[in-house]
Amino acid sequence: EVIEAGGMLVLPGVVDEHVHMREPGLTYKDDFEHGTKAAAAGGVTTVVEMPNTLPPVDSAERVAEKARLLQGKAYVDFALYGVIHDGSVGRIREMLDAGVVGFKVFLGPTTGNIPPPRLGSLVEVMESSEKYGFTVAFHAETHELVEYFTARYRAQGSKPSLHDLARPPLAEAHAIRTIGSIQEHAGGRSLIVHVSSKQALEAVEEFKRRGVSMYAETCPHYLVLSADDYEKYGPLIKVNPPIRGRDHAEALLRGVNSGLIDTIGSDHAPHAPEEKSGDIWSAASGMPGVQTLLPLMLDLALRGFIDVRRIPLLMARNPAKLFKLWPWKGEIAPGSSGDLVVVDPREEYVVREEDLYYKHKLSPYIGWRLKGRVKYTILKGVVVARDGVVEGKPVGSWVRPVR
Ligand code: DOR
Ligand code: ZN
Ligand code: ZN
Repeated sequence: EVIEAGGMLVLPGVVDEHVHMREPGLTYKDDFEHGTKAAAAGGVTTVVEMPNTLPPVDSAERVAEKARLLQGKAYVDFALYGVIHDGSVGRIREMLDAGVVGFKVFLGPTTGNIPPPRLGSLVEVMESSEKYGFTVAFHAETHELVEYFTARYRAQGSKPSLHDLARPPLAEAHAIRTIGSIQEHAGGRSLIVHVSSKQALEAVEEFKRRGVSMYAETCPHYLVLSADDYEKYGPLIKVNPPIRGRDHAEALLRGVNSGLIDTIGSDHAPHAPEEKSGDIWSAASGMPGVQTLLPLMLDLALRGFIDVRRIPLLMARNPAKLFKLWPWKGEIAPGSSGDLVVVDPREEYVVREEDLYYKHKLSPYIGWRLKGRVKYTILKGVVVARDGVVEGKPVGSWVRPVR
């Protein structure tokens, strides 16, 4: 077919290195079919799926099982993470052979209750990262500090904004300094995911300046929401690390423009309605976001908050490089996979509940007016979504590292 693209922007298909599609084991929250349809509708052509499912992806066998389970349900291409805990750190080689593109380490409490690794295990994973050249994605919040502050602020009642105090920037910056110090000893490459605070950014900057191979991701919700929004949205925007004050969002925007931030991921983390309402302390953390990832970033760009030329770098090339999918993914170039997004920068529209492909449409962005519409999502040369509507069969496949 011929696509009439006068006045449009053509970008490489987005590589979202941070999604929790919830399959297997947590499909009451959402599943791979809904999640990858949402991805396609929003211009994401490759997702890198997090390993905190039930069971967690912590052995070669579970990598193979998960890949087998997801094949045939994928509307976009997908790659898999393995998870590192004290019991799986000895299985890094086998998980690499099974086809993971990288590993995730949870230093703080999270969905799936994966215990934080001992410091020795962190040394081992970074030594392996150095040896084999993979990236380790870190959820950087020091568990012990989170527990301490949560107990302290929980005693003060149940205002949603207390969630921010219960997981302060200190917990984030402290974890980043632990990671960076270990890298100074052991080497390796880290990606600090969902950087949410000024203090965390400063910690990343310090280690980058010292030549440590540390990269940073932030997510749209830290750029477009702020603590003022707790009153309106309540537990819907409870996420770890938390949404913080305006000054943090502004610092993160500067980081996006200066190159201090390397990638933008969605941290698509859906939950069921009964988990996202009621008391702030018992509500689950995380919100769906893969469908609005590119739309929110385009809106920021077209309103002049970020340079539109940063989008293909932060949302395609850089994540593809970090997870060894480049240049097949993340680039418009000869020999690449032919994943493209066509955007109309002139169009403005309102995000409607019925247009979201999530199982539970618990997005704070419903009703938001956005600039720049994703018109076509093209996966390996095939149109998979048109004007936000997914079409055709699930033609996505499992992708392993480019060697
Ligand atoms: O809010 C969050 N939810 N943060 C995470 O790091 C994990 C995620 C989840 O899996 O629910
Ligand atoms: Zn996380
Ligand atoms: Zn996450």
